[in-house]
Amino acid sequence: STPDSYKINGLTYPKDTYSNIPSSILDKLDRNLHLLPSHPISILRQIVEDHFASYTPLVPSSAVVSVHQNFDELGFPPDHPGRSLTDSYYINNEYMLRTHTSAHEVESYKKGLDKWLLSADVYRRDEIDSSHYPVFHQMEGTHIWQNDDLHTLPALNAELEERLKECNILIEDETTISPSNPYQPHHDPIHAEQITKHLKHSLNSLIFRLFGHHASKAGAEPLRVRWIEAYFPFTTPSYEVEVYWNGQWLELLGCGVVMQKTLDLSGVSNKSGWAFGLGLERLSMVLFSIPDIRLFWTSDPRFSTQFKQGEISTFQPYSKYPPCYKDMSFWLPTSVDTSAKEHGAAAAGGKLPPGGPGGEGRKKTFHENDYCEIVRDVAGDLIESVTLIDEFTHPKTNRKSKCYRLNYRHMDRNLSNEEVNELQEQVQKRVVQEMGIEMR
Ligand code: PHE
Repeated sequence: STPDSYKINGLTYPKDTYSNIPSSILDKLDRNLHLLPSHPISILRQIVEDHFASYTPLVPSSAVVSVHQNFDELGFPPDHPGRSLTDSYYINNEYMLRTHTSAHEVESYKKGLDKWLLSADVYRRDEIDSSHYPVFHQMEGTHIWQNDDLHTLPALNAELEERLKECNILIEDETTISPSNPYQPHHDPIHAEQITKHLKHSLNSLIFRLFGHHASKAGAEPLRVRWIEAYFPFTTPSYEVEVYWNGQWLELLGCGVVMQKTLDLSGVSNKSGWAFGLGLERLSMVLFSIPDIRLFWTSDPRFSTQFKQGEISTFQPYSKYPPCYKDMSFWLPTSVDTSAKEHGAAAAGGKLPPGGPGGEGRKKTFHENDYCEIVRDVAGDLIESVTLIDEFTHPKTNRKSKCYRLNYRHMDRNLSNEEVNELQEQVQKRVVQEMGIEMR
């Protein structure tokens, strides 16, 4: 890649005002953790593929997709927040790094496959903490049927509920069909209900496969899994499945009955069915007890030698090196009234500032994801978390200030204070230059 173009998988893409991918992210494009045989992400992928044995496994060749594939084809409205430059990585105004594996739905339906699974790395700009990383992995799965065949949908295994109970897994599902989560108007409600049941059964049985052993070992407390109503532009009804883990509900997947528009666009308007998208990191952290999402990216053999293909085992933590934190206080840019700006952009229906995303407004409106991006670009995996610890508005000047705590830690050795100071100074320099903020 050069200052004016990105070179990815042998293709050259010209940059424009949308381009916002730092080299630290480009470096991740060929890591393919989901394909390394005994990496936890890949072990899970294989177990899911094993479970859905009759589904065709697919692996897309590049993380670069068109904005059209990632959003338009799936019915995302033009003002959807996911489209904004603060949330997604753009190559240019036409291409981007996929934010979800659903970006490949249409091209996969077009292949004429009725049942498939697709796993890939996905990219989102985000905050920094133990469960967020700008690159993660998803698995998409779908099952569609000829409408004429829907009355013969395979019989569901009635014993699943019993088996789940036996191994101490409690599935809570109080979802209903309602105006906010309806069947599609042109679907026969009987068929839509059948598809929904098949979807829920298929995913509950995957949960049994993944957690069955785990939960029965856990002791008296049942493992709680719940279905909640959700919204996605490309499915209805839509759901999320969450698991109660370490005192909080963790989202594992999103799913629903595929929007007929998507299938029409794929040339299979005579079919209907369901789709899900599963986050592999979340699930691995829970199943393997992996405490920090950065561990997936380490090359330390103390990590990589712990796992075996086909096996879910508990991660044995090795000694952690001490953390070192530094605080950074700064004034937000004053040249633009940020609150009015944010409000205006939202009212205009999106976060892309008028006059193009690289225009005047962009660098002046403080966004935490932009700040975190620079921190990651400087510190890479040495940054463990970035937390807002103080906010303040000067009573006279109305200037706003923020204080962030940057927590650094090396996964494989001690960090010296000088090293950390050096990183902190680099971050300071860059945020002043690139975000127009002023250190306090
Ligand atoms: N793509 C959605 C996400 O990343 C998940 C999803 C997949 C939802 C398929 C519905 C159907 O959040």
